[in-house]
Amino acid sequence: MPSVVKINVLTVPEEMRRELEKRFSNRAGMVESADGFEWFELLRPVEGSDRYLVYTRWRSEEDFRRWQESQAFQAGHAQAAAAAGQGHGHGQGHGHGHGGPAATGSELWTFEVVESAGPKQG
Ligand code: HEM
Repeated sequence: MPSVVKINVLTVPEEMRRELEKRFSNRAGMVESADGFEWFELLRPVEGSDRYLVYTRWRSEEDFRRWQESQAFQAGHAQAAAAAGQGHGHGQGHGHGHGGPAATGSELWTFEVVESAGPKQG
């Protein structure tokens, strides 16, 4: 069975980019222990798009679904959930950028790995 790639496409306003990256740098790190998890990368847009890509690769669709319904997913999104609970933009009197969701939109893309290659060994 080919591996499955799940990419969460995040629309992030310019002024929230630093905050999003900070939240990911403080991420729970629980996805690494999920069954069937293969790889994670946060991709910052440089050219051709202004959207961040949260790239994950899984042994199967089922493994991804089990993680998405798991406690680890909830715990892995604690900050995002807390920020979403604080509503948009102006946080607790801290002015711009600290409170509220960092992303204003998200979309989930799914791919199957058809071909792949890594660096030649030895
Ligand atoms: C409304 C949708 C979503 C938003 C706004 C969002 C946002 C975030 C944010 C801000 C973090 C950083 C940690 C935190 O804030 O707690 C995070 C963690 C993460 N997100 Fe999402 N996310 C969403 C859905 C998804 C989906 C569908 C995927 C699957 C591709 C995904 C994959 C990840 C991964 C792998 C982590 C790291 C978790 C860990 O360290 O255990 N997210 N997300």
